[in-house]
Amino acid sequence: MVVRKLVLFLLSITVLLPIVLYTDPLATQPSSFADIHLGDEIPIVKSADAVREPTGIVYPENSSNPDQISDHDGGRAVASNTTTLPSCKSGDRKSRVLSQEDKKKTRSGTGDGGVIRQASSRETSEGATAVESETVLPTQSRNQQKQPGKRSKGDSGSTPDAKIQQFRDQLMKAKVYLGLSSSKSNPEFIRELKERVKDVERTLAYATEDTELPFNAREKLEAMEQTLAKGKQIQQDCCAVVKKLRGFYLSAEEQARVHKKRELFLTQVAAKTLPRGLHCLSLRLTADYHSLDSSQQQLPNRDNLENPRLYHYALFSDNVLATAVVVNSTVFHAKDPERHVFHIVTDRLNYAAMKMWFLANPPGRATVQVQKVEEFTWLNSSYSPVLKQLASRSMRDYYFRSQHAKSDENLKYRNPKYLSIMNHLRFYLPEIFPKLSKVVFLDDDVVVQRDLTPLWVIDLEGKVNGAVETCGESFHRFDRYLNFSNPLIAENFDPNACGWAYGMNVFDLEEWKKQNITDVYHHWQNLNHDRLLWKLGTLPAGLITFWNRTYPLERSWHVLGLGYSPKVEHKDVEAAAVIHYNGNLKPWLEIGMTKYRNFWSNYVDYNQAYLRDCNINP
Ligand SMILES: *[C@@H]1O[C@H](CO)[C@@H](O)[C@H](O)[C@H]1NC(C)=O
Ligand SMILES: *[C@@H]1O[C@H](CO)[C@@H](O)[C@H](O)[C@H]1NC(C)=O
Ligand SMILES: *[C@@H]1O[C@H](CO)[C@@H](O)[C@H](O)[C@H]1NC(C)=O
Ligand SMILES: *[C@@H]1O[C@H](CO)[C@@H](O)[C@H](O)[C@H]1NC(C)=O
Ligand SMILES: *[C@@H]1O[C@H](CO)[C@@H](O)[C@H](O)[C@H]1NC(C)=O
Ligand SMILES: *[C@@H]1O[C@H](CO)[C@@H](O)[C@H](O)[C@H]1NC(C)=O
Ligand SMILES: *[C@@H]1O[C@H](CO)[C@@H](O)[C@H](O)[C@H]1NC(C)=O
Repeated sequence: MVVRKLVLFLLSITVLLPIVLYTDPLATQPSSFADIHLGDEIPIVKSADAVREPTGIVYPENSSNPDQISDHDGGRAVASNTTTLPSCKSGDRKSRVLSQEDKKKTRSGTGDGGVIRQASSRETSEGATAVESETVLPTQSRNQQKQPGKRSKGDSGSTPDAKIQQFRDQLMKAKVYLGLSSSKSNPEFIRELKERVKDVERTLAYATEDTELPFNAREKLEAMEQTLAKGKQIQQDCCAVVKKLRGFYLSAEEQARVHKKRELFLTQVAAKTLPRGLHCLSLRLTADYHSLDSSQQQLPNRDNLENPRLYHYALFSDNVLATAVVVNSTVFHAKDPERHVFHIVTDRLNYAAMKMWFLANPPGRATVQVQKVEEFTWLNSSYSPVLKQLASRSMRDYYFRSQHAKSDENLKYRNPKYLSIMNHLRFYLPEIFPKLSKVVFLDDDVVVQRDLTPLWVIDLEGKVNGAVETCGESFHRFDRYLNFSNPLIAENFDPNACGWAYGMNVFDLEEWKKQNITDVYHHWQNLNHDRLLWKLGTLPAGLITFWNRTYPLERSWHVLGLGYSPKVEHKDVEAAAVIHYNGNLKPWLEIGMTKYRNFWSNYVDYNQAYLRDCNINP
């Protein structure tokens, strides 16, 4: 009877599971873009492996040695000694000390990866909390061999992305437990395991390599480890089932991974490549600009630029079309367009084009100024630590490691965005606008849908930065971005403090100067010269710099996620003053999500001569 039940169960599992597993991750694809950083930290997904991913990975069902896995590509073992499943040696059913087990299990003659290795269970901080999540695990494998049990705490390891692999292995194991009948008879355990799975998936959702893992990743790893150890004890009797299942899980997940990786890789490439139309636009505008004589090259209303009674915007961008949309949409909704002044800072390459666009398409009666960052001679590496760091050899190596190591190793960081000073201009607002007392900072991937003038009258209560907070979900807190194992961080900041978003911020420049914010920023940027406090980008630096100096704005001022999450509520988008396409899926790219595209393209006049000439269509 029991045997028959077991066989039936086994049958249903073996037939159904691969189907479910294989189709489900693909079907829910888009949500892998969900839950990535907010704010400026654009979640470009690293997918270097996709380039050289062997397509035919095979997991032989070897009855004599079911743990052996190989692939066609030179026989690298996939997860061979990291994946740990309940051990099944008969006559040895007591829970065992894991390192002993390793020895026992080492078989001779298995060559590549015949060893089951149990990751050691460690003391856990019971910190992991369950947060509801529909995150899909970004299933990219690094196909590398690791020895999780031997890795010391906090050690990022010599093997790249060992932690990611460890997380994935845990997940596979957890899912097997979840499917087993004997676990089902233990609802307590199932509940705990499910929570851990969510936690781990959430942790992984952000990252495709170790350097991108949140700083609280280790706790999650350990919590899961502990839960799995419990499962192992419950599971002693199910060895045969487990052995069987393991092969199926591995192959199904791996196939899904291969597909996913390809897609992510293409997204990555698409996100970085300027579409031909935009390139054309920039070239034509530049050519036309230089055909003007110098008196025609001036934008009008220059006496508005320093008038503190007007509404001033700071907009740093190298994308003409995106900037045009921000300006157009802002002006379109402004009650008093002539009182709005846009200060656009771009780079040398796009300066002429940017200026030409606004000469040819003046934004009603609003004022536009175009500057290039190269004009700011005060912003040099003797003044700005971040410039010094950007110029340094080690930083360049860090970003462009791929030139020295494997190609594609660091695809993500080859995005020029990460090396550009344009990104860091936001920390120099009082220097850029010495005469102004308040500016609204806008990213170039936003669309304005309301009159923004009320922003200038909000009382920031002595704070410097007005921003919407992003910690409605428990994971956009400080410990997500900063290294709280570092005493400098731990002593000065609260891991549970709420993160906030860049993209639409009010900055009080008087308070900024009074509180020496630029010095604060320089201080921390210097301390972070070896990147031990935070890694990339401007958001962590912003969190630190404006710690206890940020005033939370009402949420509808700034709705985020339209560049990665298909789940932003339609009514929230419609009600928002500013919507933000943060993420890879920019509305001006082919890959942009169609459901949000109209909110952006409504502000593009596709009949405009330049756009028609360059074949830029809706
Ligand atoms: C797997 O099975 C094949 C034949 O079925 C055998 O030749 C091979 O040695 C087995 N591999 C291991 C590692 O046992
Ligand atoms: C992991 O597997 C590799 C080959 O697959 C082997 O050389 C190595 O010794 C194994 N590591 C452990 C800790 O068993
Ligand atoms: C660098 O900036 C400082 C002040 O920020 C300025 O005094 C100095 O002249 C600048 N150096 C160059 C070469 O422009
Ligand atoms: C975090 O800070 C600690 C202490 O400085 C350091 O040892 C560790 O490597 C840092 N972690 C990361 C991921 O940079
Ligand atoms: C800001 O710096 C000035 C001199 O650079 C100093 O006098 C002042 O006390 C500083 N203010 C704060 C709040 O640190
Ligand atoms: C936050 O800033 C206020 C003044 O603006 C200060 O009184 C308070 O001590 C600060 N709190 C922390 C935790 O730094
Ligand atoms: C701004 O957008 C409106 C609405 O789409 C459009 O009618 C207008 O031509 C645009 N202005 C410019 C300068 O592109």
